[in-house]
Amino acid sequence: MTILITGGAGFIGSHVIRLFVEKYPNYNIFNVDALTYAGNLENLNDIESKSNYKFVKGDITDEFFINELFKKHRFDCVIHLAAESHVDRSIQDPLAFVRTNVIGTMILLNAFKNTWKDNFESKLFYHISTDEVYGSLGQTGLFKESTAYDPNSPYSASKASSDHFVRAYGETYGLPYVITNCSNNYGQNQFPEKLIPLFINNIINNKPLPVYGDGNYTRDWLYVIDHARAIDLVFHKGTLGETYNIGGFNEWKNIDLVKLLCKQMDYKLDKPEGTSRKLITYVKDRPGHDLRYAIDASKINKELGWKPSVTFEEGLFLTIDWYLNNENWLKNITTGEYQTYYQKQYN
Ligand code: NAD
Ligand code: TYD
Repeated sequence: MTILITGGAGFIGSHVIRLFVEKYPNYNIFNVDALTYAGNLENLNDIESKSNYKFVKGDITDEFFINELFKKHRFDCVIHLAAESHVDRSIQDPLAFVRTNVIGTMILLNAFKNTWKDNFESKLFYHISTDEVYGSLGQTGLFKESTAYDPNSPYSASKASSDHFVRAYGETYGLPYVITNCSNNYGQNQFPEKLIPLFINNIINNKPLPVYGDGNYTRDWLYVIDHARAIDLVFHKGTLGETYNIGGFNEWKNIDLVKLLCKQMDYKLDKPEGTSRKLITYVKDRPGHDLRYAIDASKINKELGWKPSVTFEEGLFLTIDWYLNNENWLKNITTGEYQTYYQKQYN
């Protein structure tokens, strides 16, 4: 089996690549990634020389490049993760999200369809999406697979649009697909623009921790390796044409999460408890900020037997450990473009 994984140099993609390369030596795995600010081949140092793995630098919005690649390798399956993935950047530059998340997905769908025509036997297009397509919950309730799409940010609108196109290609052309919509991930190798690694990096550098609004926004956090395990299961055992929600059974108000993170960082850095907490700074809210996300993951749990393998406290501890042991990884990516983005977003 020859598999194309897009966005494999990013946060979640690199964990998926590692899992597949190590677990399935008989699969030929191609990683196509444009290496944007979020893509980093350092994430894959340990597996780059494996014989069942190949990296190809390229942009999924480059139709000629993608078509030629499909002609050459005739990918049986696609696991599509490449995306612009940060809500705050989507507010600064929405069109970039339409280009990669909508048009890039369309170009992949067309290349896949044109490669296999009507003969889709044992083929699969697996689209990785987010719970943010469902919009915002109030204080109660959970996102189910049947919840209506109601995206509020340019990021979630672009992901919702790509989900619709994948489903439409299934209905119209019989393209075999699965979609998973996952909650907020955290763990090693996450770019320090997202809440947890941003705050870890700021604590290391004794910088303010910018909490948006009153901090009472709620997210459902999942350890990235548990997401990769879920992707492996859905890829091999999921039902075609179905959507599966993936979540951590783990809701946290931002401010409570930040306080726990501060406590664990003080412990790890051998500082008196309360030191990092003093860095918490309430700042202007994010426009269109979704109040609450929470996933009902009972379908994937019942049908495929998946559940998270670590508690949040364990996962956060492992994550902090990784960032403290990999300060060079952080230093290498927090120069240049990162500083420009940071100034624009937080000053
Ligand atoms: P990320 O930003 O860390 O990585 C994205 C990767 O895609 C990078 O390696 C980047 O170089 C690559 N990329 C971007 N534009 C590209 C293009 N035009 N052509 C080729 N490659 C391109 O993102 P992530 O957090 O790893 O998210 C991966 C996927 O999972 C995304 O589709 C995202 O919507 C989805 N998702 C993320 C989360 C989360 O919490 N991070 C939760 C649910 C779903
Ligand atoms: P984020 O990691 O950007 O993920 P998402 O917006 O996809 O949920 O943000 C998680 C939560 O943390 C969200 O409610 C916004 C909030 N947040 C802050 O309060 N300050 C920050 O600097 C960032 C990046 C996020």
